[in-house]
Amino acid sequence: MPANAAGSSEPAQPTVGPPLWLLAELTYRCPLHCAFCYNPVDYVRYGQELDTAQWRRVLREARALGAAQLGFSGGEPLVRDDLEELVGHARQLGFYTNLITSGVGLTDARLGALRAAGLDHVQLSFQDATRQMNDFLSSTRTFDLKRRVARLIKAHGYPMVLNCVLHRHNLPHVGAIIEMALEMGAEYLELANTQYYGWAWENRLALMPTEEQLREAEAVVESYRARIGKRCRILFVVPDYFEKRPKKCMNGWGSVFLGIAPDGAALPCHAARMLPGLVLPDVRAQSLHDIWYHSDAFQRFRGTAWMPEPCRSCDEKEKDLGGCRCQAYLLTGDANRTDPVCDKSPDHAIVREVAMHGRLAAHGQPQAPVHEAPLVFRADAASRRLSGPAR
Ligand code: FES
Repeated sequence: MPANAAGSSEPAQPTVGPPLWLLAELTYRCPLHCAFCYNPVDYVRYGQELDTAQWRRVLREARALGAAQLGFSGGEPLVRDDLEELVGHARQLGFYTNLITSGVGLTDARLGALRAAGLDHVQLSFQDATRQMNDFLSSTRTFDLKRRVARLIKAHGYPMVLNCVLHRHNLPHVGAIIEMALEMGAEYLELANTQYYGWAWENRLALMPTEEQLREAEAVVESYRARIGKRCRILFVVPDYFEKRPKKCMNGWGSVFLGIAPDGAALPCHAARMLPGLVLPDVRAQSLHDIWYHSDAFQRFRGTAWMPEPCRSCDEKEKDLGGCRCQAYLLTGDANRTDPVCDKSPDHAIVREVAMHGRLAAHGQPQAPVHEAPLVFRADAASRRLSGPAR
């Protein structure tokens, strides 16, 4: 290995820039019960939510560090009745603010108040283009409500930004989902293939699509893109279980993303909470500056110095920065290993095996009605069960 500028043969530490993207997970409370929720399955364990004053301080410190984009998320951020105050404060600080919502609780009055507070952007989630599937997947009757909320968002002058998480049960409906988005006047549609963390990991065997489903859906998306041009931008990313190289998760650990969990734990990525041995700093006890620049949690996988082989000597290591630490942990039990999505990883066969479950399930029970799928829905009782000592 060539010596670095300091004359050492150790890989150089990266120059650390500021966090650019702050995700404020205001609460784990949520009226929906989505089977692919990315929140931790043991969310009931985590204590008191930060109060308004604590969130205001987090926003101030993050802005002082250089963060510019702010997402209010959850759970469902609308269950917090101080959301308008926090949006107003963020706006005064100069953040570009985005509300990531299921739409439940978004009334005309509330949206007016958020608009007045300076909210820049709203992203509304749907589960499907059909009432039956939307309501099944969220375990709620929210399809009609979401359609009403979509009209409200338009009426308040916001661009229509829809998000739909895709998996085996709704991938065949991609054309209908795009039609729904067009009918609603969406300017942007995010077709987010399920990322297998949190509840989605728990449900991976029930959600995993087949490769054919993915390629067919991709072809449908392509044909719409060619037809509708810029009228609605459609984002469609194939889940990395079907790729040969991993994603550059979070654009690199501790690189641009800073998440704050409802109880004040600072997160280098959405799923970091489950990594054993990673002590997440608490914003109530430490400044964000200290957390970002000096905490072990944010430095642990920053840059390339932590990498094992085959990443360490790989000429593509700067491209993906070793992939996803949480995926490595979930698939191999060790967050320090190369992301098994990479076909250079000695663990790559594990990914192929999990992906194969989609094929087996689809071909083994092709006619299985969705209500018989063995999904675990996100709910407090299920979270208590999954948090138990036997886990
Ligand atoms: Fe945690 Fe990718 S989700 S590093």
